[in-house]
This record gives sequence, structure tokens and C-alpha cells, in this order.
Amino acid sequence: MRIFSGIRPTGDIHLGNYLGAIKQWVDLQNQAEPIFCVVDMHAVTTPYDPKKLQGQVFELAIDYLAAGLDPDKCILFVQSHVKEHCELAWLLGTVTPMGELKRMTQFKDKSKQHPEYVNAGLFNYPVLMAADILLYKTDAVPIGKDQEQHVELTRAICRYFNNQFGPTLKEPKSMVPEAGAKIMSLTEPDKKMSKTGNPKGCIGVFEEPESIAKKIASAVTDTGREIKFDVKRKPGIANLLTINSLASQKPIEQLEAEFSGKSYSEFKKATAQALIDYLEPLRKKRKELLTREVYVNDILRKGASKSQTIASQTMREVKSAMGLEK
Ligand code: TYM
Repeated sequence: MRIFSGIRPTGDIHLGNYLGAIKQWVDLQNQAEPIFCVVDMHAVTTPYDPKKLQGQVFELAIDYLAAGLDPDKCILFVQSHVKEHCELAWLLGTVTPMGELKRMTQFKDKSKQHPEYVNAGLFNYPVLMAADILLYKTDAVPIGKDQEQHVELTRAICRYFNNQFGPTLKEPKSMVPEAGAKIMSLTEPDKKMSKTGNPKGCIGVFEEPESIAKKIASAVTDTGREIKFDVKRKPGIANLLTINSLASQKPIEQLEAEFSGKSYSEFKKATAQALIDYLEPLRKKRKELLTREVYVNDILRKGASKSQTIASQTMREVKSAMGLEK
């Protein structure tokens, strides 16, 4: 089974990226044929600093390795190093209805966030994502809940293509984790945790322990006293229970029992500690990797070469099906 996924190099990865996506990747790398990508071509669709981009790409590759991706078990590369991504995106754009792109939640959200920067690249973003996935004849795409809509569109684009030009591409499915698919902001527990929201609501995977403890201590909860998993009535507590459960590897029911009759502040302290302990090995590994530039660049170079072998074969099939090549 081939899996493909990626993250935009737009700043430090947060707990949502880790629990929604990367944790699954690490778990899957022993059973699947995994390809993981730093999607830099997607990062240039919203305002960014060109002087910082190379550094952000490198740091995200380090984050992947620090989080547990093993270059002997998976292919790890940078999207812009394999030119076939953009080539396929152009061709897939010719079978993608504009109406479908207009419906995309991420396009609507980002257009609102940056009304001065609503470019055609942002509009076509999901077509490039479809190209990323379809280029590798991917079976499954491990992602958080917010990206499911894009994978649904990828499936539709795949069908449009195959109906028009004959069976060429493979229809992938989403892989969303049972717990952690949508980690919420600590300050606004009705919104997903994100790099662009209130920084106090977002915990970086490699953040200093003191800062993690502070953010959890001031997380928005409710005026009640009960530590119960109830997403509708107690979204803040439910979010903290999810985080604690994933970090401590204790089922939510066990945590509810353990903290029955205890205060929110006791529960928050324990949650912060569980999370700090859980992330500590990742933080250590990242520090060590930061000094190993040659090693990391070598992994990315080899990864691009392996990806390109697969990508160029698919491009031959696509171009031949479309009558662009013999
Ligand atoms: P991006 O960079 O926004 O997010 C990367 C991954 O993190 C997940 N995620 C979350 N999961 C749980 N809770 C949250 N609060 C949370 N926030 C983010 C996302 O679902 C995602 O899995 N378009 C993609 C990047 C992409 C891609 C691809 C993904 C480009 N090409 C091909 C898969 C396959 C994106 O913007 O993800």
C-alpha cells in the first residue's frame, strides 16, 4: 500500500499537525510504502518571505525526522525538487471544474485571511495537491480532518481524468485518525489549532516546556467543575482530554475516572506534564539534527531522485493518455 502526505513549510509545526498527521505517518511507515513531502510549492500561495523559505523547508525536513520518520523506511523529499508535480497539476487543471474549486473551505478561509492576495495559485492549490497524490498512484493519504475535502476533490479529479482519457490514475482514500483528527485551539476551542490563529491557542511540537505549561494553564475551559468528554457542552475540556489521552496513552474514560472530583487546575497541570514528557524526546532529537545539515540534505536529494523515478513514469502514462506523447 502506497501512502503520500505533506505539510506546508509555513512556520513551526504544531500539535495539530503532529497528532492529526505526522503521528500516523510514523506508525504507518513499517507497514506501508510511504512518501512524505515538504510541500513548498503550496507555501508560496499565501504571503511569505522568500529569504526565509529555504530555511523553513530545511527545518520542516528536520521536524519530520525528529518526529520519527526513518529515511530507510520512507521517501522524504521537497516538492519543488520534482518538477512533475507542477506538470501534472497543469494537466489535471484541464479536467477540474472551476465550480468545485470555488467550494473549497481552505480557499474561502485563506481568501478572507489575505483579501489582498487572492491569487490564481491559491485557487488552484487543490489541483496541485491532487497532482502530489495522483503522481504516485497513492492508495491512502494520512491527514487531519481539515484536509479531507481536498482528498475528496482529488478522488473526483481522478475520476474525471480516467473517464475522459481511459484508466490511468488511481483513486486514493483519506486516512483520518480516530483521535486527534481535529485538535482545537486552546484559546478558542470551537476553532481548529492553526499556525495563523492566536499564538496562545497553539502549541508548537518543539516548544519549550515552560511555555507549554503556561499555555495549557491558561487554556479556555468553562465555568463548570466536571472533567467529562463532551464536545458540545465542554469543548475546551474535551480538547484537553484528547491531548492528554494521546500523550499519556491512557483512554479518555480512564482519565475521566482519574480526575473525577479534582479541579481543572490539577487536570491542566497533569495534562501539561504528560504532553511535555511525550514531546521531550522529539525536542532532543531535533536539536541534534539541526547540526547535521549535510546528512539531512543528502536524505532530501536521495528522496527526490526516488520520487522522480515514480513520478516520471506516471507522467509518461498521463501524457500518452492525453495524446501529448506517443
Ligand atoms: P497543512 O500544512 O495545513 O497541515 C498539515 C497536516 O496537519 C493536519 N492538521 C491538523 N490535524 C489535526 N488538528 C489540527 N488542528 C490540524 N491542523 C492541521 C492537516 O490536516 C494536514 O494533514 N494542503 C495540505 C498540504 C498538502 C498535502 C498534499 C497533504 C499538500 N499536498 C498531499 C496531503 C497530500 C495542507 O495545507 O496541510
